[in-house]
Amino acid sequence: MVTSWNRPTTLTVNKKAIQFNIEQELKRLQPGQEVFAVVKANGYGHGAIEIAKLALEEGVSGFCVSNIDEAIELREAGILLPILILGVITPSLAPLAQQYDLTVAVASKEWLTEVIANDELDTIRAPLKLHLKIDTGMHRIGFYDVEDFVTSVELVESQPRLIYEGVFTHFATADEADDTYFSQQAQCFNQFIEKSPVKPKYIHCANSATAFWHQACPSNIIRLGIGLYGLNPSGKALDMPFELQPAASLTTELVFVKELQAGDKVSYGATYEAKSNEWLGTLPIGYADGWNRHLQGFKVLVDGQFCEIVGRVCMDQCMIRLPKHYPVGTPVTLIGENSGQVITADDVAEHLQTISYEVLCDIGARIPRRYV
Ligand SMILES: Cc1ncc(COP(=O)(O)O)c(C=O)c1O
Repeated sequence: MVTSWNRPTTLTVNKKAIQFNIEQELKRLQPGQEVFAVVKANGYGHGAIEIAKLALEEGVSGFCVSNIDEAIELREAGILLPILILGVITPSLAPLAQQYDLTVAVASKEWLTEVIANDELDTIRAPLKLHLKIDTGMHRIGFYDVEDFVTSVELVESQPRLIYEGVFTHFATADEADDTYFSQQAQCFNQFIEKSPVKPKYIHCANSATAFWHQACPSNIIRLGIGLYGLNPSGKALDMPFELQPAASLTTELVFVKELQAGDKVSYGATYEAKSNEWLGTLPIGYADGWNRHLQGFKVLVDGQFCEIVGRVCMDQCMIRLPKHYPVGTPVTLIGENSGQVITADDVAEHLQTISYEVLCDIGARIPRRYV
């Protein structure tokens, strides 16, 4: 994928906002707690390496990614802090993880048995660090059976090539007002921890939402994801207990402007018809950039005014109705602030009936990231 540096469409990442958000969380830490910055999925679209380097300067203790390739990308960029892979890696890749000094999630006894049988795991290198994942109610990955978990801890403890460094879980409803299911999961996690024959260095359960709204829940790693990027994990459902600053803004420029005559139709399917003579602007962003087709009818900002996206969003372009003539080159804000008005990733998410996470992750590789 070639990044379109010469097209005016840009995702601008405000480094000060990232720094501010990390500081906000660091200030709230209880003794013994550390922040691991979650930079999976290219740092939620913001750029994994750049965000990791910024977070490192701000004093985070490690990183979380989703898979081994994302972890290796960070190592090859010179990041030396601990990197925890949250997803399941293929067991045969355990030696590769050890080679790169990565920390790996263990979700089953079968996975562990396969890794132990692999004689490519090195006895000379530092042992492979493991965090056992407990399925307390997400039913995605993790130990569900306490006996399996206990046997697995014992197995790890018997292996000089492995270290039982952590145990963790993930909550399904930490971002909701009703904490019934959250409490059940927390209770289940405690039951597993009590049964653990050895207590590892790290016992953790806190994503952003857990850290923000369930501070009492013991977790010595805060896996800070969406909060790092300045967004409320609940969207607009729960009030943030402290301020965050959204780091990303998505902007472009008018690349073509024309006056439609009443009755003229716009874009594929001719789904929009001008009711009277009106000004139409074309933006160089489309669904191939993650600007979803369902954003037809949503708004962008031009000169501090909300302008409707009219007609179908195309692969590389979309059209907006302008209140008057604006010249080619006029700045357009899709996410962010423009002359005092703001469109947030949560506004976009609300229109798409999704969450800000998806909006940000969808912003395509074709769009350059600029750091200011
Ligand atoms: C296991 C795990 N921990 C932490 C996070 C970070 O979550 P958030 O971005 O809500 O802070 C995620 C995100 O998907 C996750 O899957």
